[in-house]
Amino acid sequence: MQESQNKTKTMPSDFGDADVSTFAHVASQYRAMVMTSKISWKNLFCILQTETNQEKLIHSTIGNAHTTKYPPSRTYRWAFLKYIISKLEEEGIEVCDAIYEASATLINEVDNGDSCYKTYTLKSGTLVTIRETVQTISKGTTGLSTWPAAQYLAEWALENPEVFSKRRVLELGSGLGLTGLSIYKTCQPSSFTFSDCHSAVIASLKSNILTNLEDMPKVDEKLSTNEDISHRLTKCGTCEIVHDLLKSNKQVSVMDLDWGDTDSWVLEHMNPDIIIAADVVYDVSIVPNLVNVIKKLLLNKHSTHHPEAYIASTVRNEDTRNAFLECLESADLKFEKIAGPQEEVFFYDRSVAIELLHIRPV
Ligand SMILES: C[S@@+](CC[C@H](N)C(=O)[O-])C[C@H]1O[C@@H](n2cnc3c(N)ncnc32)[C@H](O)[C@@H]1O
Repeated sequence: MQESQNKTKTMPSDFGDADVSTFAHVASQYRAMVMTSKISWKNLFCILQTETNQEKLIHSTIGNAHTTKYPPSRTYRWAFLKYIISKLEEEGIEVCDAIYEASATLINEVDNGDSCYKTYTLKSGTLVTIRETVQTISKGTTGLSTWPAAQYLAEWALENPEVFSKRRVLELGSGLGLTGLSIYKTCQPSSFTFSDCHSAVIASLKSNILTNLEDMPKVDEKLSTNEDISHRLTKCGTCEIVHDLLKSNKQVSVMDLDWGDTDSWVLEHMNPDIIIAADVVYDVSIVPNLVNVIKKLLLNKHSTHHPEAYIASTVRNEDTRNAFLECLESADLKFEKIAGPQEEVFFYDRSVAIELLHIRPV
């Protein structure tokens, strides 16, 4: 690893700004549960000779207030500590008590099974915390973990906030909500509707929304606790308003919207300005229904705007991708592949191709 190649036994008397950023960088990867072998440790192991710095590492990761409330899986935390201990031992550095104490606490902790929290750090420093399952497919759905295309689309949105600003945004197949929450927190849409069709996904999505919007600025005082918010849940058809930022009149809703079983009336009256979706083109069989929903939303005669759609897809299979493009063409929709995000914000496997399509009526 780079740290061992650059190994220095010089003990810094203090740690300056660069080292503060090293702790922050490692902490952001820890919060997002980046595999220890993939973590960019920067110069961390050069500054861990002192007990103070080892304690700082523990306080910014395992012992941090946010990650204590929303912890990564127990297995992950154990792997993280084990990696640090073995690395320090390899470097001949004495392991401080704080690290052993954290390990002992973890040994006694009951395992949370398949469930964990991943916290994604946006460039602004804003955090988005998502409760996920460790398995990519769980309870018969792919929607209970966050996929790379969701992170890709969120990164693109963060670089293009004007697309969403003051717009009514609808997300299809939202899954756990990372993309939508990133957009909602940073791009100032006038409203955001998340949607999915799987009951366990919708339940997790609602819970993630409440977790993240609890501390949003401008939230009416009375909405500042989960209990108060849930008292205000309002049903409107299949759409449930889970959060209403009263002062700014911004609304967040979750909708049970199945592409194969959706009332045209509902679609016609939704009027979104922007439609987004990530990793929803993964099976040829779902393509016709998905395209039908996109078409109805884009060709909405009640709309005063010209709605547009942005769909990010991991290209796993050329046939599925081509079926989607052909179906868009037959539906008289215009599409173009647009450039993805320029900067890396999240930590995901970038070796698999992800394609972003901008779709409009002809
Ligand atoms: C691969 S996951 C992607 C989730 C999320 N967008 C992400 O990228 O992390 C696909 C999502 O599409 C949803 N989905 C699949 N078929 C659907 C349908 N017919 N109607 C609505 N949502 C559907 C699933 O429930 C799941 O949440």
